Amino acid sequence: MNDRLKTIVDLEKYPIHDLNSPIIKRLIEKCKKELDQDSCSTIPNFILPKSLETMNLELEKQLDEVYMSKEKINAYLYAKDDPSLPKEHPKRNFMERYNGYLNSDCFQKNSEMKYLYETEELLKFVSACLGVSPIYRWADPLACHAYNVMKPEGILPWHFDSCEFTLSLMIQKPENGGIFEYCANIREPGNENFEEVKKVLNGDRTKVKQLKLEPGDLQIFKGRFTLHRVTKVEGKKSRYMCIPAYVLDPWRVNTPEHSKAIYGKVLPIHIERNQARSDGLTD
Ligand SMILES: [Fe+2]
Repeated sequence: MNDRLKTIVDLEKYPIHDLNSPIIKRLIEKCKKELDQDSCSTIPNFILPKSLETMNLELEKQLDEVYMSKEKINAYLYAKDDPSLPKEHPKRNFMERYNGYLNSDCFQKNSEMKYLYETEELLKFVSACLGVSPIYRWADPLACHAYNVMKPEGILPWHFDSCEFTLSLMIQKPENGGIFEYCANIREPGNENFEEVKKVLNGDRTKVKQLKLEPGDLQIFKGRFTLHRVTKVEGKKSRYMCIPAYVLDPWRVNTPEHSKAIYGKVLPIHIERNQARSDGLTD
C-alpha cells in the first residue's frame, strides 16, 4: 500500500491500488460504460478533504505564477484566422476566452497534485476505466498536470483538447456559473464532423449536456473527441481545477502555437516534436 496515496485518495471507498477488489471492479465497469456511451464519467468525493485543502493551498501560494490569457480562440485552440476557408467554417469562429493555467513546470517538487499524477495506481485505474491500454502520462512539460484558474468573468469556449484523455479534479467551486458542458463523441479519428461542430457553435443545444462537479470529485473525460466548454464564472470566487492528462502517444506534446496561446510560452521540446498528428484531426 502506498502510504502517501492513502492520504490523498479515499482508498477505503475507492481502492484504486487493488484493481482486483470487487469494489473497484464494479466501479471500473460503471465508469467504462459511461465513458463508452457518454465520453465522460464522474467519481464523487474521490479526493479526501484534507488533501483537497493541500491542493487548494499549493495553488493559492502560486497564484501570481498563473498565466492568464484573454485571446479569442476557435474550437481547435487557434487564435489565427484562415481566410482561405469559407466564412461560416467552424475554424473561423473565434470565441471569447478568459482563462489561466499554473503550468506543470511551476509545481513544487513535493506537490500533492504532481505526486498523485505520477502514481502508477492512478494511471492503471484510469486506463482500466477507459478500457484503453497502454495510456501514457503526457510528455508536455507545461500541460501534463496543470492547475486551471478561472477568475470571476472567466470563460472557456467550445473546444477539443489536444490530449486524448483528461481528468478534471474540482478544487474550488465558484459561487455561480463555471459549468462544464459537453457534446459527446462529436469527432473521431479521421472524421472532423464539421457540420455538427458548426451547429453547436451556432447555439444548437440538442446534444449539449451539463456536468455538475463538486470539490473532490474526479471526472474522467475523452476531451479530444468531445466538444466541451465552461460557462462564464459568476460571483467573486474563482473556479479552481486540476486537469491531469493522459495520451496514446508518449512522445507528442502541444504544438508551439497552442503552447504559446494557452500556456504563455514555447519550450524547445514543442519545436522539436512539432509533427502532424497520426489521427488526422486538427490540433
Ligand atoms: Fe478542454
